[in-house]
Amino acid sequence: MRDGKWFKKAQGLLQLGEIALKLSRTMTAGQTIAGKTVLDLGCGEGGHAIMFAQAGARHVVGIDGRRLAVDRARFAANVLELSNIEFMHEDVRAPGALNGRFDIVLCSGILHHIEPEAWFLFLKNVARATADTAIFYTHVADEQLQSEHKLKPVQLVEKSSPPRSSWLARLFGRLLLRKPQAAAFDGYLYREHREEESSDERSSKMRASLDNDHSFWATEEVLIDALKKCGFELILKVQSPHMFRAQRFRNTRQIIVARKAC
Ligand SMILES: C[S@@+](CC[C@H](N)C(=O)[O-])C[C@H]1O[C@@H](n2cnc3c(N)ncnc32)[C@H](O)[C@@H]1O
Repeated sequence: MRDGKWFKKAQGLLQLGEIALKLSRTMTAGQTIAGKTVLDLGCGEGGHAIMFAQAGARHVVGIDGRRLAVDRARFAANVLELSNIEFMHEDVRAPGALNGRFDIVLCSGILHHIEPEAWFLFLKNVARATADTAIFYTHVADEQLQSEHKLKPVQLVEKSSPPRSSWLARLFGRLLLRKPQAAAFDGYLYREHREEESSDERSSKMRASLDNDHSFWATEEVLIDALKKCGFELILKVQSPHMFRAQRFRNTRQIIVARKAC
């Protein structure tokens, strides 16, 4: 059992939670988790959210779009008698789902399950919800991964204007009749579900996207560019500690710290 796939996966997730705690203690204002608010997006069964609640966060909110995951997370929090945590059954892409601002936002294993059409807006909403630090664990595509997973190249074009221009810059832009710049992001399409799969089949795949057939896997360069465009000021790729020893895995399953306030 201990060398089984799911046991190893659970150990990796525990390690990832410990890394996220360490990064939060090192990187966030005051270098502490105590008293902080935390948002865990795509929280699954709530393991990471619970680790932050136990580490002294003032309040932790976990969001997941699978009812079963949320029920399990609530059960675990009840058994542990945690009063500083809540779990919400919600689609993270839904308008208004990422309400409020949190000191720490965890995006562990969620960004690479978002479809191209929603990807940049989701990232902007993550940035808006982050007061201090966002921690991402995400698949990042490169040519080798493209051929391994038969990923199809795709380009997203985001037509809205950049979010952080000041009113003065926008006014000058209008006076000079400048059109808002379109942002383009190159990446790959990863197939999550087959078209013919029913919603029950889709929801039974606990770690997959909720309903979208494909998700968007950005390249490293594109992901960093998109994070900058969303208003993160400091973006760090974590090499160590990491769950994977091989550089190959550290390049395609990245841990990224993105800070708002530096
Ligand atoms: C790979 S798992 C990651 C779980 C956990 N964060 C971790 O690191 O172990 C992806 C999680 O995101 C959830 N998810 C996928 N798409 C979602 C969406 N659009 N809205 C909310 N949750 C979503 C899934 O139900 C699943 O629990």
